[in-house]
Amino acid sequence: MQTKLVSVNPQNPEPEVIALAAALLREGELVAFPTETVYGLGANALDADALGKIFAAKQRPRSDPIIAHIAALEQVDELAIDVPDAACRLAETFWPGPLTFILRRASSVPDAIAEGRDTVAVRMPAHPVARDLLKAARVPVGAPSANTFTRPSATTAAHVLEDLAGRIPMILDSGPTTIGLESTVLDLTAAQPRVLRPGGVSLEALRAVIPAIEFSPAYVSEREGSQSPGQMLKHYSPRARVLLFRGDDRQLVLDRMAEVSASEAKAGRRVAALLTDEDAAALGGLYAVERLGPARDQDQIARHLFSGLRALDAHAVDLILLRDLGRTGLGAALWDRMLRAAEGEVINC
Ligand code: TXA
Ligand code: MG
Repeated sequence: MQTKLVSVNPQNPEPEVIALAAALLREGELVAFPTETVYGLGANALDADALGKIFAAKQRPRSDPIIAHIAALEQVDELAIDVPDAACRLAETFWPGPLTFILRRASSVPDAIAEGRDTVAVRMPAHPVARDLLKAARVPVGAPSANTFTRPSATTAAHVLEDLAGRIPMILDSGPTTIGLESTVLDLTAAQPRVLRPGGVSLEALRAVIPAIEFSPAYVSEREGSQSPGQMLKHYSPRARVLLFRGDDRQLVLDRMAEVSASEAKAGRRVAALLTDEDAAALGGLYAVERLGPARDQDQIARHLFSGLRALDAHAVDLILLRDLGRTGLGAALWDRMLRAAEGEVINC
């Protein structure tokens, strides 16, 4: 299959391009499109065969459920039943935006969207291209991140092409995404609302609306993964081995990173790091360095995390060093993605 890469204006999407992509979706085909978080790989969420193509293209297990994207609030009722009041209050504040709700699934939604579960994930994205596409498609669109399963999520059309060329008919290209990390996934089906995946909306922001929101991250190995979708440890992984360093004393951590880097380099390995500007200035002697941005600019760091991991992979390095940057704000999501990129290999200093 030939993959067509079509540019779209991110602020004022060309209607004729949107119409073409929407027609493909309505025909049961796949379209990769930008959202404000990461690029998504879309299919008609009400068409089980179309959803099946997503799993095939991404090489993703059927047990990992997919988010349904909508353009208007009324569409929630097409997808979900018993929608709790908390969903309405949170939607008022955070939709359209990087927040996904897990709700009780309506019987009209194919089982393929969340195999073996009676729930459905729903999100209203804010990106103008995503919004126009969802409106024109006139159906909810199921879309996981547009990367091969376990690879870092795609924040540019080039990343999508890297993973999915020849496997999907069309990619809408609007340049890099603005948030760079996926949406926060919030389960509203249990007695206590619970964050399953930290993301673009911080815990602090959620708790300002609903104070009782829980978050107790649990990570599982690949073998256990089918019971806890999305919590698999190997995820967002570059090809290189990743080591994540953490500790309260920054200098101590940097010294340890320098030691490991030196001994690994001595053993003939290409050692790289993905660092804040300040850390990059402090840590020398690396084979390759990608910068995340200034330490105080979490938004910029978030935008650069996945693209940085992919860029270092392109240098064919053997080892990538990362440092914990705290857990407040977007920090919780950054830590989650770094931990999974490292497949749990954390060095406490
Ligand atoms: O920002 C995002 O959320 C992006 C853009 C494209 O919207 N999408 C995305 O999808 O990251 P994906 O499939 O890569 O991640 C969705 C996460 C997974 O961890 C999945 O297990 C979880 O949401 N999820 C989806 N449906 C679920 C359900 N019914 N119950 C529990 N978890 C669910
Ligand atoms: Mg994903």
